[in-house]
Amino acid sequence: MKSKVGIGVIGAGGRSKGVVGKLLGASTLLELVSVYDPDPARSEDFKSSLRVPDTRQEQCYQEMLSNPKIGWIMVFSPNCYHMEHILASFAAGKNVFSEKPLATKIEDCQTICDAHKSSGLIFATGFVLRYAPIYRKAKEILSSGKLGKILSIAANENIATDHGAYIMKNWRRNAKFAGSHILEKCCHDLDLMNWFTDSLPSKAASFGGIGLFVPENASLPEKFSDAGRKSFMGWDDPAGEPCPFKSDKDIIDHQTAAMLYRSGVSGTFQATLSNAIPERRIYFSCTEGTMITELYSQSLVYCRIGEKRETLSFQGDLHGGGDAILARELAASMLEGKETASGGQEGLRSSVLAIAIDESRLSGKVYDIEPVWKKLGV
Ligand SMILES: NC(=O)c1ccc[n+]([C@@H]2O[C@H](COP(=O)([O-])OP(=O)(O)OC[C@H]3O[C@@H](n4cnc5c(N)ncnc54)[C@H](O)[C@@H]3O)[C@@H](O)[C@H]2O)c1
Repeated sequence: MKSKVGIGVIGAGGRSKGVVGKLLGASTLLELVSVYDPDPARSEDFKSSLRVPDTRQEQCYQEMLSNPKIGWIMVFSPNCYHMEHILASFAAGKNVFSEKPLATKIEDCQTICDAHKSSGLIFATGFVLRYAPIYRKAKEILSSGKLGKILSIAANENIATDHGAYIMKNWRRNAKFAGSHILEKCCHDLDLMNWFTDSLPSKAASFGGIGLFVPENASLPEKFSDAGRKSFMGWDDPAGEPCPFKSDKDIIDHQTAAMLYRSGVSGTFQATLSNAIPERRIYFSCTEGTMITELYSQSLVYCRIGEKRETLSFQGDLHGGGDAILARELAASMLEGKETASGGQEGLRSSVLAIAIDESRLSGKVYDIEPVWKKLGV
């Protein structure tokens, strides 16, 4: 009979409740032993939402690292703390699940990957879109050769106004906590592009700025209906600034990037933070056909040149149903010691691309990523 696996959670905010709730639902052999959050009210809310009254509420995360009942640490802290929490967990001999992005600097991502390698432990990361059926199907179609080879990809993540306003209210608005928006949020999409091309980006160039969430636009919501005004105030966030226009911030609200992959594939990515029609779309132009995925409508359309268009529909939440599958596969990894579909390398590679894109935007120059890959040995 399999024995129980104990879990400790660092950071008890919104994401932890969703992932851990689904994970505990996936197996009765997983036991939530401890939770730590610097805000005790968050730990309490976490425990009552997940109905786990016997879970220990720690005063510091180090307490869970010395608990022999715990085999896995799950990291849901803001991005700037991921490295500290992951390194301490590996040093204590614990397997780790960490939310994306791996960290906010390339060197830190590399330090994490090195620590993982020498630990011999399992490292799973929260690249949930890799688990979503729509993207697994897209990968299957590309790998089948039906559409020939990818020539070019145009992807975007154009989120709704309430989502963008939420970002501009909470810790994500400051790069010192989150990294840039393209790193914090769009590392998912950049990871998908790396996965679909089966290659690494050689060069990146980018432009962008902040044009909407600035103090001069604070009265803009007055032009809108109640629903529009509410949207500009963002999702509820107990710890957030009340005004997304006036909050102090150093991230931007619109950005476009262009990439060239080693395989010769060219690509673009657009990220915007306030839209009436949100879209998360990838257009694949291939030598023998075309494919389009769109996550909000959960639709995948593909067509070989001159043949009938195929349309597939998928079910699921904001992450295309990936959350439930991630929980199931992570539970199997915890119980059977298997690797998951996303680990440290996916985190490293998508972070490198996001950081290169931002460096290019700041310098106004094309960023040559090859020297970075060479240094990282990939
Ligand atoms: N994979 C996904 O799709 C997805 C979705 C949402 C969030 N995330 C990631 O999950 C992580 C958490 O995001 P969230 O939405 O839950 O944010 P959140 O603000 O809801 O929660 C963050 C929690 O971390 C706590 N915290 C702050 N400083 C800490 C520290 N030093 N040590 C431990 N905890 C600390 C806060 O008190 C808060 O409870 C982020 O890395 C984010 O990028 C991933």
